Amino acid sequence: MNKTHSLIPEIGISELDAVSANALHVVSQVRTAMLAPEARKSAPTYNSTQLAELCGVDKNRLQYLVRKGDLSGGTKDDSGRREWTLAEARECIKSFRVESLRDAAKAPGAVITVANFKGGVSKTTTAAALAQGLSLRGHKVLVIDCDPQGSLTTLFGVLPDTEVEETDTILPLCAGDADSVMPAIQKTYWDGIDLVAAAPLLFNAEFLLPSRQKSERGFAFWRVLDDGLTAARDAYDIIIIDTPPSLSYITINALIAADGVVMPLPPNALDFASSAQFWNLFTEVCGGLFKAGGDDKKFSFVDVVLSRVDRADAVSVAVRQWIGSAYGRHVIPVEIPKTSVAASASAEFGTVYDLGPSSVQAKTLKRARDAYESLVDYVEQQVAGVWAHSADVVSAVIKKEG
Ligand SMILES: Nc1ncnc2c1ncn2[C@@H]1O[C@H](COP(=O)(O)OP(=O)(O)O)[C@@H](O)[C@H]1O
Ligand SMILES: [Mg+2]
Repeated sequence: MNKTHSLIPEIGISELDAVSANALHVVSQVRTAMLAPEARKSAPTYNSTQLAELCGVDKNRLQYLVRKGDLSGGTKDDSGRREWTLAEARECIKSFRVESLRDAAKAPGAVITVANFKGGVSKTTTAAALAQGLSLRGHKVLVIDCDPQGSLTTLFGVLPDTEVEETDTILPLCAGDADSVMPAIQKTYWDGIDLVAAAPLLFNAEFLLPSRQKSERGFAFWRVLDDGLTAARDAYDIIIIDTPPSLSYITINALIAADGVVMPLPPNALDFASSAQFWNLFTEVCGGLFKAGGDDKKFSFVDVVLSRVDRADAVSVAVRQWIGSAYGRHVIPVEIPKTSVAASASAEFGTVYDLGPSSVQAKTLKRARDAYESLVDYVEQQVAGVWAHSADVVSAVIKKEG
């Protein structure tokens, strides 16, 4: 019989510390190499076919309007082909979509929180793709990373461990040192999307919020983010919040601030079971808070989106039925397929939107992109509904006062 060698416990914390420092170094190198030559992310550019599609017009009409000088013509390359930057493209898109844009005088921006108990269900990917898709429909978007792991921050080209200061995050809000997220906002490489970043230092919020709850009279820890968003709701059409994979103090804040919730859910048994626990715990916690505070919370929409759906997987057919029976009308008619494409785009710190439409010719890539486009269309409709409701409420108040 083989003698089992004894395994001496010799990996001390200081060694783990060295491993961690090394790992951070490698991440930063990988990113720099991937983003060469600028070492910064850059947004895609669009040709006339792609721009016409984004504007929802015929290519001939687009070219006519450019010749007439009604639309930006982008820049011409050596062979005379036009190319538009993201910023130029968004200006054109907006001019065709005036009817679909928010009237800032009538309605504040809508807040969408992407949440689920579990990690790896594609919350962050969904948050980023939603932001990009909505910005390509002409909306001005703010993304708020509430996950101390900072994955969304990374997707938007900022490294949480080395490039994020406390004042770039919602931590000052949680600490009571700020009463608005506005000073924490930074621009991103993507025109039309600004960012409130996250980094591991955000873990401190999990101590600060409960301790303020104990020591400050009248403090409601769950309202901190909602209250801090007042100015941002004026300045942005849509605010998208990404959350950590737990029901933390921050997650509760993100849910209370939300007009609508998007819950990505892969159709497998474990993720399904944990999603049920998520809602159960959330309603229990909020029920308790609101009974105490006399508050109430109503969402305009709660969307369960099947994510990472593997069509070849027979088990998921059964689980999909369970999800249907469990969540009924909240399961939206959009499914995000599982694609190696999504995985590889993300490996390059981006989403399908970063690849730019020109590389979205491959069938699998097109399928993933089309699925995200359907999700964006669906959510955009709901956001329009949220704005319309706010406008109704405002005009009712004006009527009453007048
Ligand atoms: N549709 C998809 N198909 C395949 N892989 C995906 C898909 N969406 C996300 N992923 C991958 O799954 C992993 C977890 O995604 P992420 O968005 O970070 O989830 P979460 O924020 O819920 O932890 C990432 O590696 C991401 O690239
Ligand atoms: Mg995440």
